[in-house]
Amino acid sequence: MAMPITVSSSETKDLLRMERVGTHSHIRGLGLDDKYEPRASSQGMVGQLKARKAAGITLAMIKAGKTPGRAILIAGPPSTGKTAIAMAMAQELGTDVPFTSLAASEIFSLEMSKTEALTQAFRRSIGVRIKEESELIEGEVVEIQIDRSLTGGSKTGKLTLKTTDMETIYDLGTKMIESLDKEKVMAGDVITIDKASGRITKLGRSFTRARDYDAMGSDTKFVQCPEGELQKRKEVVHTVSLHEIDVINSRTQGFLALFSGDTGEIKQEVRDQINSKVAEWREEGKADIVPGVLFIDEVHMLDIECFSFLNRALEDDMAPIVIMASNRGVTNIRGTKYKAPHGIPADLRDRLTTISTSAYEEKDIRQILNIRCVEEDVEMSDDAKDVLTRIGVETSLRYSIHLITAANLVSRKRKATIVDVQDIKRVYSLFLDEKRSVQYMKDYEDQYMYNDQSEKVVEGTPMEM
Ligand SMILES: Nc1ncnc2c1ncn2[C@@H]1O[C@H](COP(=O)(O)OP(=O)(O)OP(=O)(O)O)[C@@H](O)[C@H]1O
Ligand SMILES: [Mg+2]
Repeated sequence: MAMPITVSSSETKDLLRMERVGTHSHIRGLGLDDKYEPRASSQGMVGQLKARKAAGITLAMIKAGKTPGRAILIAGPPSTGKTAIAMAMAQELGTDVPFTSLAASEIFSLEMSKTEALTQAFRRSIGVRIKEESELIEGEVVEIQIDRSLTGGSKTGKLTLKTTDMETIYDLGTKMIESLDKEKVMAGDVITIDKASGRITKLGRSFTRARDYDAMGSDTKFVQCPEGELQKRKEVVHTVSLHEIDVINSRTQGFLALFSGDTGEIKQEVRDQINSKVAEWREEGKADIVPGVLFIDEVHMLDIECFSFLNRALEDDMAPIVIMASNRGVTNIRGTKYKAPHGIPADLRDRLTTISTSAYEEKDIRQILNIRCVEEDVEMSDDAKDVLTRIGVETSLRYSIHLITAANLVSRKRKATIVDVQDIKRVYSLFLDEKRSVQYMKDYEDQYMYNDQSEKVVEGTPMEM
């Protein structure tokens, strides 16, 4: 039995996007010009020019919406801006194209199978742009007349609306009277009433009433009295993701599940029916598919089952563009005993186009640190920045970024307003970077528990899984 598919347009908000504050909050875009040429430093982005340009071209591809199912791998050493580039792409896409960000380890959950988690992530990344015609009544209020019954229980009334060409009287029920009250609608306001939902929107005050005696705030907006018919048809467009449609239709209180995140597994039948309904809408010209972006960070954490799922899922005609990131070299493919570059099997690598990022030069690091100081609201002397930049070159960009706020706290402790070299030195001695912490561990290895003397520490590469 085919169930009615709803997208509950009055309730669904258009695509929600989580704004991440923190590590990448200084990034506002890729910093490219109209020709996709990267500016040396713009929108919080510095250096890494080739990768940014490639990301920009990818963006153009996504915006054109013609190439679903592409997979792109951003590969490079740790802290070279892979995640930052993906976040910049998300910013550039705007709110109408879905962007889902996922760390590969997130799919290993007890409540949901891995493939279900991946399917949900895929469907979150596909937007359905739905065009709906709604019937509106739009006019200037001439008069509102309300009659209370003797007991005061129910109210009835009449609303007179006009355009430049006509005038009509509408009967009002209790609910409409309440919403008119709530919106503080008065004679002389230009309003629209959505016929289906009864929602009233105030557009502004009519110019003809501009000289009225009643007090008006400076923010009063004046509009023309509408022309023509009072009843109008208007096209409203809103975008929801396939996953949202799935959730709304899979449970009675499905809409709430969207907020709580408690969606559970969604039945394949529900998805099939939604797919065919969406296909129908597309044919009727009522909806468009907007292939968005699924970003899978730390992709080497996926296992062989997930990789083969991806192979197939990318071939679906409703696939998003999948962007992956990895900092691994040749490593184990999870779930097998084989090794492969980035821990990704050859058949998936064959479907990928790769953007590579490389270590930053000193001047780039300095510039990024400058930007982070502004972002974290920290004032720092030039000498201190020199030292911090050198630390960044010798350890990692991320480590030096992390010292900014710590150094600021230390400087405040000595009642200074500007972070100076001594503060940087202090935090550098308090917090070890990766290399020094390994060295420290080696120096005192016999004091640690279960220390395996035969095992050699792989320096500079993250822990193997
Ligand atoms: N080109 C850049 N411009 C501005 N900020 C950057 C740039 N590259 C990196 N950063 C910042 O440096 C920090 C580290 O970068 P990021 O987290 O993107 O590295 P990554 O390549 O994802 O590393 P990992 O492989 O360890 O995940 C972040 O705070 C990021 O916002
Ligand atoms: Mg990262």
